[in-house]
Amino acid sequence: MGIVERPADNRAIGVFDSGLGGLTAVRQLHRLLPGENIIYFGDTGRVPYGTRSRETIIKYARQDVAFLRQFALKAVVIACNTVSSVALDLLAQENEIPIIGTVEPACRRAMTMTRNGRVGVIGTAATMRSGAYEKYLHQADGSLRLFPQACPLFVPLVENGRVRRGDVVIETVAAEYLAPLKAAEVDTLILGCTHYPLLGEVIADYMGPEVTLIDSGAEAANLASTQFDLGDGNGVTRYFVSDDPAAFDQLAGLFLQEAPAAGAGLVDITGY
Ligand code: DGL
Repeated sequence: MGIVERPADNRAIGVFDSGLGGLTAVRQLHRLLPGENIIYFGDTGRVPYGTRSRETIIKYARQDVAFLRQFALKAVVIACNTVSSVALDLLAQENEIPIIGTVEPACRRAMTMTRNGRVGVIGTAATMRSGAYEKYLHQADGSLRLFPQACPLFVPLVENGRVRRGDVVIETVAAEYLAPLKAAEVDTLILGCTHYPLLGEVIADYMGPEVTLIDSGAEAANLASTQFDLGDGNGVTRYFVSDDPAAFDQLAGLFLQEAPAAGAGLVDITGY
């Protein structure tokens, strides 16, 4: 019998976040799967999610998925740790296509990288409150010690482009949040928020070269790339936001590390 080829699947991958952070997952999808069509939604009118209640995060996440599902999709990547921590199971129950979050793939990578079993995780207040990282890591390997730290000021600073080495504001805030993790001698630090890879240099400078940083958005993209049949066309990415597309267009390149191929469209997300 000859090999039966599976037909190409040109449906798009839906990706969403509260704002621009999820573009760090899109960046990795572009690297891994340049032929895939992607629909990105950033809820820029309601960012941040990480300071909100569980009920509000679930309501917003359902609306985000409902918007994306107007398009023909083969999978959804929740490029937001806050939503992944609070609503992944629910969204997976409510949708028949694969819904891929950040927590599991980020933990799996951390488990392969740590040498001393001391792992830090930083994220929004809601992600830390959910206990999702502790739950996953302790179930997967009870011998690991996890050191969680909420960093509520990071998202607004990143969304304002305050990410560069030498910026005294971000360096001061980073030092305050990261000091307990440095004292705990973690050798692996999960960036448990998709905005944080933009702070990679600032965080690495403070933590030192011996600490491995895990990019949770990129890990979600890595996992996603194994979950469906690939398309065979030229990948096109379309961007949508719930407020101020011009501001999104201006900052998106910083997250994507390339200029977005097209400007963002405006969506009234409250209608979904
Ligand atoms: N980028 C998001 C995350 O990964 C959400 C940040 C926020 O809206 O607070 O958690």
